[in-house]
Amino acid sequence: AGSALVDRFGRVHRSLRVSVTDRCNLRCTYCMPEHTPQYQPRSEILTFEEIVRFVQIAVSLGVADVRLTGGEPLVRAQLHRLIESLCRIEGLDKVSVTTNGVLLEDQLDDLLAAGLRHVNVSLDALDEETFRAATRRSGLQRVLSGIDAAVQAGMNVKVNSIAMRGLTEHQIVAFGKFTRRTGIPVRFIEFMPLDSDGNWDTSAVFSGDEIIAMFERLVGPLEPVQQRGSAPAADYRFTDGQGTVGVIASVTKPFCNTCDRFRLTADGQLRNCLFGEDSGDVRELLRSDASDERIIAAMQESVKLKKRGHGTDDLSFLRPSRPMHAIGG
Ligand code: GTP
Ligand code: 5AD
Ligand code: SF4
Repeated sequence: AGSALVDRFGRVHRSLRVSVTDRCNLRCTYCMPEHTPQYQPRSEILTFEEIVRFVQIAVSLGVADVRLTGGEPLVRAQLHRLIESLCRIEGLDKVSVTTNGVLLEDQLDDLLAAGLRHVNVSLDALDEETFRAATRRSGLQRVLSGIDAAVQAGMNVKVNSIAMRGLTEHQIVAFGKFTRRTGIPVRFIEFMPLDSDGNWDTSAVFSGDEIIAMFERLVGPLEPVQQRGSAPAADYRFTDGQGTVGVIASVTKPFCNTCDRFRLTADGQLRNCLFGEDSGDVRELLRSDASDERIIAAMQESVKLKKRGHGTDDLSFLRPSRPMHAIGG
């Protein structure tokens, strides 16, 4: 391995998130606008060959884990072919996908055959009406049967749920029952200022502390689960051993100081933080036949520009210019 990707604060970057499309088949209120946005033109989206080359280079710099995101990654045609190529890269320990689950059951056999073993499914509600309010689309039953089929097939499945005031309070009991019945861990992600509509404000953030307190009050006592240092989620187990709930408190308890991740957007731009701006045009390099060394330099440069923290609690905080579906979650 070459020199590692270390930033000015000594954080070593081992985790890469690759967005494969900005398109999506849902319209979650905290992410996308109601009306279909102007999507990135096809010609600007990286090909699978381009992504694989980039990931190979990243792995030579110590990246050990790649997560595919979107938009919705499963709307990208033949995604399993990309996964198959990534799973063959030596030194890459883990390939995972973050999906809304709508197409999971349809594609499960292909994904398994490609070597995929880890999926995080985003799911905000367990009743059809609330699911529709959150995503502006139907599809709850398809998501649930996708989760079920993936678990049956032996995949590692986690559920991610947005934590928004007015939504999440009413889902706590249902998700408590869900994780206790299925054993699938459920994580609640504090709502971040990355929605297309610009409606975020602190009053809409349902905090991790409130969520844990509500689980204890309405479902049962919890105890913390030990985790690796860089994990953004704080997980808790019900003390009778049945069910795990976690919180990703990006807003109220930022985990920036142990952050080990950076991103490649679908259109080939480096981002060193969800809240950064684009910091390196990899597409231009890949398409002009640049050497590995130049791509390495671009990655190191992007990581060097990383700020200490996202600063959403700072008065001078500016919203990033891309909404979540165009960054990759
Ligand atoms: P595991 O490896 O399974 O623990 O997954 P993960 O939590 O790294 O990935 P996942 O895609 O499940 O992330 C859950 C959510 O955490 C994302 O959808 C984001 O909302 C949030 N998140 C992920 N990365 C970052 C980050 O770098 N900064 C912040 N603030 N939030 C992040
Ligand atoms: N704040 C927090 N999480 C978000 N996601 C999308 N938009 C936001 C936001 N504004 C999450 C989704 C999904 C992942 C891809 O990103 O819940 O789990
Ligand atoms: Fe689509 Fe995910 Fe955004 Fe929902 S959060 S609109 S599923 S990209």
